[in-house]
Amino acid sequence: MNITFFSSKPYDQQFFQEANQAYNYHLKFLEPHLHKSTAVLAKGTDVVCVFVNDAVNAEVLEELAAQGVRLIALRCAGYNNVDLVAAARLGIKVVRVPAYSPYSVAEHTIALILTLNRKTHRAYNRVREGNFTLSGLMGFDLHGRTVGIIGLGKIGLATARILKGFGCHVLGYDIAESEESTSIGVDFTDLDTLYKRSDIVSLHCPLTPETYHIINEHSIGKMKKGVMLINTSRGALIDTKAVIKGLKTGQISYLGLDVYEEEADLFFEDYSGIVIQDDVFMRLLSFNNVLITGHQAFFTSNALSKIAEVTLQNISDFEKNVPLKNAVS
Ligand code: NAI
Repeated sequence: MNITFFSSKPYDQQFFQEANQAYNYHLKFLEPHLHKSTAVLAKGTDVVCVFVNDAVNAEVLEELAAQGVRLIALRCAGYNNVDLVAAARLGIKVVRVPAYSPYSVAEHTIALILTLNRKTHRAYNRVREGNFTLSGLMGFDLHGRTVGIIGLGKIGLATARILKGFGCHVLGYDIAESEESTSIGVDFTDLDTLYKRSDIVSLHCPLTPETYHIINEHSIGKMKKGVMLINTSRGALIDTKAVIKGLKTGQISYLGLDVYEEEADLFFEDYSGIVIQDDVFMRLLSFNNVLITGHQAFFTSNALSKIAEVTLQNISDFEKNVPLKNAVS
């Protein structure tokens, strides 16, 4: 099998080359994102392997089909960037890695909560400069606080388990109630109650037409004044302009983001030497109670190994024409 990787980084090459020792496929690693003008680079390849910010829309899929591509292998869980209807029409199969390490994302979620609360990022800089004052660094006990989790799937539940260990009261909302959430002590509730009672709201649902901008001016208005809002799921779950307004009025006191709705033009690249043109993003960075990481929640060695193994297994299943257990349809 010939596999072309888009948006590839040195760490992708390292982990995929290791996992490929069991398969010996021909791997071609390309740095550019997949979009209309780069799709031609897939010429002569059976499989295209893509990541979260590759645009796998109808136009791109048509170009890939014309180049002979038969399978899109997502090396991630989310598939909101793929036009599945167009893929089906063109006879291109789509597979993904539904679960690689929910712990990686859950633990990063906790890192954002703890850092925003105890301000360890600011303390680190202060102490290095010989400033041992504490003003501005006061936090609160997580023990006894109420955390609302929207989306009680693998990552939401992994996050809930850690928070229960801290002694938090965990509220949860999902379109489907699971027995597992009840067994770990999550109180299942409706969205309005979750907004009203939570000191911290954390998003763990996928991006779908229903969840697009689920956090907007209206929902922010229902939250406790001074709420902490965390998003490690997908950027467009949040209406960023509404969140900025909430930060300015003090309705939101802490914001932790690993994802951003316009991240495709920014994340995973080094723009430290140029002027960033996204004014909304730059406004977010100007708040001292906002902490942003660049879509790194998944980024553990455990997760990268698993992603490479499952992706190549998905491709092997396709090659052998056995049922694709990780197919997206
Ligand atoms: P999952 O499929 O196990 O769980 C998602 C849950 O959301 C399901 O229980 C589903 O019923 C629920 N859901 C769907 N629509 C909903 C709605 N309208 N309201 C409330 N809940 C709804 O997925 P998993 O593995 O827990 O991942 C969650 C999300 O995390 C992914 O969709 C992806 O966007 C994001 N993610 C982010 C990563 C990062 O590096 N920042 C890495 C991996 C995933």
